[in-house]
Amino acid sequence: MPFITLEGIDGSGKSTVISLLKERLLEKGLDFIVIREPGGTLIGERIRSLLLDPNYSLSPIEEVYLYATSRAVLVREVILPALKNGSLVISERYIDSSLAYQGYGKGVPLKLIYEINRPAIMGLYPELTILLDIDPLICLERLKDKKKDRIELEGLTLQRNVRHGYLKLAEFYKERYLLLDATRKPEEIVSEILKELKRVIR
Ligand SMILES: Nc1ncnc2c1ncn2[C@@H]1O[C@H](COP(=O)(O)OP(=O)(O)OP(=O)(O)O)[C@@H](O)[C@H]1O
Ligand SMILES: [Mg+2]
Repeated sequence: MPFITLEGIDGSGKSTVISLLKERLLEKGLDFIVIREPGGTLIGERIRSLLLDPNYSLSPIEEVYLYATSRAVLVREVILPALKNGSLVISERYIDSSLAYQGYGKGVPLKLIYEINRPAIMGLYPELTILLDIDPLICLERLKDKKKDRIELEGLTLQRNVRHGYLKLAEFYKERYLLLDATRKPEEIVSEILKELKRVIR
C-alpha cells in the first residue's frame, strides 16, 4: 500500500482533514495508520516538544537536524514496518515540510536539507502528497484563539514564504503532488483525496 503525506502551512487544515479521512477509511475497512511529524514515536514526541516550545530558541539548521532525527526514528520504527505489513500510511508532514519551512521559509540551502535527510528517510518518498494551499491571512483568522507554538509565533512573512515554497515543490514534484484549495469544506477536500487514493491504491 502507498505512503501518502499531507502538507500545508500552519492552520491549513491538515489535522482536520486527516481525522475526517480516518473515519471514511475505517468505514471502508482499509488497513491504515495515521502519524504526524514531528512525533509519532516516543523519541519523536520528545523532539516535538523541544521544537515547538516557545521558551527555546533554535537556529534554522539546528531545526533541520532535530526534524531529521525525529523523521529518521519515525521511518525506521513505524513507517517502513507498516508498509512492509501492507498498511496504507498517512503522515501529517514529512521531508517537504523541512524544505518548505527551513528551506524556502528560513533560507537553509535545499541541497543541505536533502543531504541531512537522505540517511533519515532511507530513500522513502511518498507516492502521493496532498498540499492544502491557503492564504496565511485566512489561517491567522482560523488560529486567532489558539495558543501559538514557537514556529507559529514567527509570523506572517514566514508563512507566506513557506506557502510559496510549497507551491514550488508542487511544481517540481508534479507527479506526486495533488494541490487542493484549503478554503473548501473539509468534507469536499476529503472526497477529492479519496478519489486520488483510489488511483494510487493498487
Ligand atoms: N476547511 C476548513 N474550513 C474552515 N476552517 C477549517 C478548515 N479546516 C480546518 N479549519 C479550522 O482551522 C483550524 C486549524 O486546523 P488544523 O488544526 O486542522 O490545521 P493544521 O494544518 O493541522 O495545523 P498545524 O500546522 O498547526 O498542525 C482549526 O480551528 C480548524 O477547525
Ligand atoms: Mg495539525
